[in-house]
Amino acid sequence: MGMAHEMADEMADEKADGTSKDIPDWSVEIAQSIMVKVKEKDAETFDHCVRVSRMARLLAEAACLPESECRVIEYAGLFHDIGKVGVPDDILMKPSKLTDSEYEVMKSHPLLSCEILKPISSVEFFAKTLPGVRHHHERYDGRGYPEGLMGEKIPIASRVILVVDTFDAMTWSRPYRKGLPAAVAYKELKEFAGRQFDPRMVDVFLQFHSRWNIGQHAQFSEIGETILAGLKPGALIRPSEVAS
Ligand SMILES: [Fe+2]
Repeated sequence: MGMAHEMADEMADEKADGTSKDIPDWSVEIAQSIMVKVKEKDAETFDHCVRVSRMARLLAEAACLPESECRVIEYAGLFHDIGKVGVPDDILMKPSKLTDSEYEVMKSHPLLSCEILKPISSVEFFAKTLPGVRHHHERYDGRGYPEGLMGEKIPIASRVILVVDTFDAMTWSRPYRKGLPAAVAYKELKEFAGRQFDPRMVDVFLQFHSRWNIGQHAQFSEIGETILAGLKPGALIRPSEVAS
């Protein structure tokens, strides 16, 4: 069956609540328990994954990617860093620069994320999120990890995620470090467009980011809300001190 047919079927399979038959309830429950674990182990990483998921979806939409792709990107964004639960706390929480050997451990997290997703990757939809997760630290110039993929060889989901991931990491304040102002982060993205980042994604991000209000207006898809249900309320999304 051709791609167009599959996409058409996906749309037709939509249930009344906006979720799809291609995502069985048991897999949503596993995804939910994975995210609960991430939140318990490291609330910072959990919050980061949620913000990245929302922004990745908005960036994918702004870049006019097809809805099926936007949906995959939303979930790849949500799951991208969950492998950090497998990184020891003294490395994960270290406020100073990592040593070379610590950095090697840290670099295993995209592969660990994919390992954790194994139980739900028999579901085709979740399997489609794996490449985006696995390659979210590849650089456009080929100097990233884990495989050193270059340019358009890097999955589009990973290219979208890397831009919003880096922006979030730069601007978000942590207990030991105040985040950079958005304007400074914009400049960094521009400077590394074509080297670290897909230049087209940086262009679209710079054009649209100031219109997004991640705390209030960005919506998850129904299944995203379901995965995160029960985790709210609480300090899931705090208004950024720096993005305004
Ligand atoms: Fe990461």
